[in-house]
Amino acid sequence: MNFFRNQRRTGAALLLGGLLLAAGYIVMPTTSLDDAIVPASWLILFGVALGLPGLAGFALGQRAAAPRSTVTGAFLIGLGIAMVTLPAALLGAFDRHALDDTDAYHASVSGTIEFLGRRLDAPLLISSMTGGTEMAGRINRNLAAGAERTGVALGLGSQRKALEDPVKADTFRVREVAPGVVLLANLGAVQLNYGMGVRECRQAVEMIGADALILHLNALQEAIQPEGQGNFSGLLPKIGEVVREVGVPVVVKEIGCGITEATARALAAQGVRIVDTAGVGGTSWARIEAARARDLEIGELFAGWGLPTPESVRQVSRVEGLTVIASGGVRNGLDAAKAIALGADLAGLAHPFLAPALESAEAVADKVRRTVRELRICMFCLGVKTIGELRTKKLVRGS
Ligand SMILES: Cc1cc2nc3c(=O)[nH]c(=O)nc-3n(C[C@H](O)[C@H](O)[C@H](O)COP(=O)(O)O)c2cc1C
Repeated sequence: MNFFRNQRRTGAALLLGGLLLAAGYIVMPTTSLDDAIVPASWLILFGVALGLPGLAGFALGQRAAAPRSTVTGAFLIGLGIAMVTLPAALLGAFDRHALDDTDAYHASVSGTIEFLGRRLDAPLLISSMTGGTEMAGRINRNLAAGAERTGVALGLGSQRKALEDPVKADTFRVREVAPGVVLLANLGAVQLNYGMGVRECRQAVEMIGADALILHLNALQEAIQPEGQGNFSGLLPKIGEVVREVGVPVVVKEIGCGITEATARALAAQGVRIVDTAGVGGTSWARIEAARARDLEIGELFAGWGLPTPESVRQVSRVEGLTVIASGGVRNGLDAAKAIALGADLAGLAHPFLAPALESAEAVADKVRRTVRELRICMFCLGVKTIGELRTKKLVRGS
C-alpha cells in the first residue's frame, strides 16, 4: 500500500506505462502479417501492466482531496484503456494469425505472378479463341487492348488459316494495340502430321511477335468434325522437336477434354514446361462440332468425355517443374482461386471473354477487373497475400 501512497513512484510508473503504451501504438503495424506486431503487442501489454497500477496508486494517493470522484474516474479511465488496448495486444502477442483475414486487405492482396519471364498483374490468361475472319480480327484486337489495360496474358486462336492464306494474318496482328502483353501464338499439334513443322511454328510466332507458342491437342473435335484430321500418331517426338527448335517456350493444351498426369509426364519428357488443362466443365467442342454436323446425339454422348478440370489440375500439378494453367469452365475469380489452390499457377478463361470481346476493349478490361476483384476477395477472406500463399491453401469438399 505504501507504493500507492508514494506519489512520485506512482507518477513514474504512470509515465513509464504511458510511454510504453505510446511506443507500442507508434510501432504497431497495420497488418498482423507484419513481423513487428509481436514486439509492439508486448510493449502495449507492459504499458498497460505498469500504467494501470500507477493509475490506481495515483487515485488512492489523491483520495483525501476528492475521495469518490477520483477513484471512480481513475477506475473508468483504466477500464477504458484496458478495453481498447488489451484485445488487439493479446491477439497480436499470442495469436497473430487470428487477425490475418481482417489485416490482409490493408497489406494489399497481390495477384501478380511471373509468367514466361514477365510480370502479370493477375494470374489470368485470356484463352485462345479466334482469328481468320474480319469479325475475328475485331475480337482479337478488343481482347488484346483489354489485356494491355489490365496486365493479363492473351492466347490467340489457331493461326493455321493465316499460314495457309497470308491475307488472314492481319486478323491476328495485335501487337500494335498490345505492346506490353504476354502474347501466345497457337497451332493444332495435329498439323505436325499434316505438312507443318518447326518452320510453320516459327512463322506463327513471328507473325504476331509472340512470347510463346501454344500447340493444342483436339482429338475429340477432329473425330467429330466431318472434315476432321484424325492422324494423331507419333506426335510426341514432333512436339519435342518444336520445343527444341522453335526459339520460344511451348505450351501444350487441350481444348475441353483435360490432360492426364501420364500425358503431362510424357510432354515434360519432351521438354514442355507449360501445360494448360482445358478440362471438361466448360466449352464443349463435342457439342459444337456435333451441332455443326447436325448430329446432336453424338455431341451429348461425348460432351463429358475426358477429365474434369479440377481432376486434371490435380494430376498435372503432380508433375515436377511444370507451370500449370487451369482452364475449362473457369468462369470467375472464385473459380480461378480454387484452381490455383488445387495446384495451378494461373487460370485461363475463353468463353467468358467472347461476349465482351464482341462489344469493346473496355468491356474485356471490365471482365478482367471483375474477375481479379473476385479473386482478391477470396484471397482476403482466406487471409493470403500472394498467389504463392494461395497455392498452399487446402480445398475441402463443398468449398
Ligand atoms: C469460340 C472459341 C474458339 C476457340 N478456339 C480455339 C483455338 O483456336 N485454339 C485453341 O487452342 N483453343 C481454342 N478454344 C478453346 C479454349 O482456348 C479453351 O481451351 C476452352 O474453350 C476451355 O475454356 P472455356 O471453358 O473457358 O471456354 C476455343 C474456345 C472457344 C470458346
